[in-house]
Amino acid sequence: MRIVITGTNRGIGLELVQQYAQRDDVAIFAACRHSSAELTALESNRVMIIPLEVTDTASIQQAVAQVQARVSGLDVLINNAGINPSGQQLTQIEPDTMLTVYQVNTVAPLMLTKAFWALLKNGHQPKVVNISSSMGSLTNRTYGGSYAYCASKAALNMISRGLAADLKQDGITVLALDPGWVQTDMGGQGATLTPQQSVAGILKVIDNLTAQDSGAFLRWDGSKHAW
Ligand SMILES: NC(=O)c1ccc[n+]([C@@H]2O[C@H](COP(=O)([O-])OP(=O)(O)OC[C@H]3O[C@@H](n4cnc5c(N)ncnc54)[C@H](OP(=O)(O)O)[C@@H]3O)[C@@H](O)[C@H]2O)c1
Repeated sequence: MRIVITGTNRGIGLELVQQYAQRDDVAIFAACRHSSAELTALESNRVMIIPLEVTDTASIQQAVAQVQARVSGLDVLINNAGINPSGQQLTQIEPDTMLTVYQVNTVAPLMLTKAFWALLKNGHQPKVVNISSSMGSLTNRTYGGSYAYCASKAALNMISRGLAADLKQDGITVLALDPGWVQTDMGGQGATLTPQQSVAGILKVIDNLTAQDSGAFLRWDGSKHAW
């Protein structure tokens, strides 16, 4: 299996690399802005670290070229990199915050999918997994604040639906996936799931994905998430 994962130097992305690296049949392209000691320790002939700033078009092109130099097809693209900065209460929110979060959480997954499309077409049962959030659910939105983050993930869900329709002809399955509330820099230590628990579930969900699941919004444990 040939896999590209974004945002792999820490958090859920790092754990995705860690758990996929335990499999024999994988080539993992671990994309990140700058590596970490933990990620560098995982580097091998099956785990390649590639530089990627997800909001930078040139950086995306360079990442695609690096992957293309090693493999002729891509089986899984996991758009994991994301941000949830402070300053999102109604009293604080500014256009810059809205747009910055949108660039990383919404625009980048679309641009990365577009850029890796040709490789995905050559993949084996290819899948695009957009790491979304329960905070992107309109149904769950009975609280205020977090304007940029919630809107960016709701928009990512919409993009996932569009991609599912556009990529169906190429046999590419597209999923919006909520990893749960996870103990990372973003989730905080009070979160209910360890990265190990969340990612173990995510890997099962990805393994079991079929074309019928394309356009779905699922949780880390495989259950359906309300839109
Ligand atoms: N943790 C949770 O409870 C939770 C819940 C729901 C959804 N999620 C989603 O899960 C994903 C991973 O979150 P996490 O909890 O692992 O967060 P995290 O620990 O804060 O890690 C975020 C990752 O994204 C990378 N990143 C941010 N901006 C980037 C950019 N412009 N270009 C490239 N990489 C960038 C970071 O790299 P740097 O180190 O370079 O900044 C880091 O590797 C996110 O999409 C998040 O929204 C998390």
